[in-house]
Amino acid sequence: MILVTGGAGFIGSNFIHGWLADRTAGVINFDKLTYAGNRGNLRSVEADPRYAFVQGDIGDFELTSRVLAAHKPSAVVNFAAESHVDRSIHGPEDFIQTNMVGTFRLLEAVRAYWGSLAGEERSRFRFLHVSTDEVYGSLGPQEAEFHEKSPYAPNSPYAASKAGSDHLVRAYHRTYGLPALTTNCSNNYGPYQFPEKLIPLVILNALAGKPLPIYGDGLNIRDWLYVGDHCAAVRQILERGRIGETYNIGGNSERTNIDVARAICRILDELRPHPRGQAYQSLITHVSDRPGHDRRYAIDASKVETELGWKPVETFESGLRKTVQWYLQNPEWIASVSSGDYRNWLDKNYGQRESR
Ligand code: NAD
Ligand code: TYD
Repeated sequence: MILVTGGAGFIGSNFIHGWLADRTAGVINFDKLTYAGNRGNLRSVEADPRYAFVQGDIGDFELTSRVLAAHKPSAVVNFAAESHVDRSIHGPEDFIQTNMVGTFRLLEAVRAYWGSLAGEERSRFRFLHVSTDEVYGSLGPQEAEFHEKSPYAPNSPYAASKAGSDHLVRAYHRTYGLPALTTNCSNNYGPYQFPEKLIPLVILNALAGKPLPIYGDGLNIRDWLYVGDHCAAVRQILERGRIGETYNIGGNSERTNIDVARAICRILDELRPHPRGQAYQSLITHVSDRPGHDRRYAIDASKVETELGWKPVETFESGLRKTVQWYLQNPEWIASVSSGDYRNWLDKNYGQRESR
């Protein structure tokens, strides 16, 4: 079996669903259940004997050590993180604790566990660290896409904390020989994404008839990848990637934020027309910009494509349509994550942003 940290979050829960559907090995989901973790994301696999859940913090060395010793996973895939840039601006502390200190403690526990293995169990073991393209900083309009050798230049507390964790993983490989791999992926979207991130926020606000807040001029660019394609890449890199390497993963789908919002509005106009016939685009509202807002991310994914034969299955258009359909079909999930805490976050983040 494998151990997945942060498996109750957006990408982790998609990864576990994909893994159990495609592979025979079981999964231990080790998750702290922060505001972003939701066991309901995995309700449909809870009865599967190959699936187990443990609530815990990757920063808890004793607990992670016990779980590793008890379950003897052949791999650890580390998704656990604080993941939202705006939250890191309001309060960086949790990001340093989980993304840096937590990853360090997890690496310590994994190093001891791996050191206790022998023979095939030891040679087969892998630690895969899931990271982001945000560690590379911001690109100008004409600059070449990020590749694996691009220099690190993180601009937000979130990106800096992920960059720190990537460096620790690299050091544990170089210094202790830990069989580690790192993936740096572009912006994901798809089912189970917490509605603090752009795409689900726009879908939910539109359905509620609320303003669709676009930071600054809306011309910041992200390279969007459907979450199922990201998870497929992680599976392949885990099984066939070269130890000690990093792999960039991206969708080759650069879009400005305003274009993303408009695309969602067009799909909603078609699938769930506004009751009074209003075009959803009329809800788009420019609000004050995010401090330090990176202008453009773009990924050169040729390494994972040529070495491992991975390619995204979804285009941005097909993935976005699937995603909007999923949110339309899952009102209970939306209700379950739209708690008081979430409403407090909206007040805190958007209450401070003025319309421009
Ligand atoms: P998410 O915020 O939806 O989920 C994070 C999960 O980690 C939650 O289930 C949470 O409970 C858990 N968690 C947080 N702190 C923990 C701790 N100390 N111990 C154990 N569990 C803890 O995040 P996501 O969007 O699914 O991102 C998953 C990973 O992928 C992160 O490492 C993120 O940096 C990376 N990533 C995300 C994107 C994206 O677009 N969302 C893109 C590239 C990389
Ligand atoms: P986000 O989903 O937070 O991902 P990231 O900051 O990790 O790229 O934001 C995606 C883009 O959308 C980013 O440029 C910020 C912008 N954005 C808005 O314009 N309005 C919003 O309400 C949010 C949440 C994001």
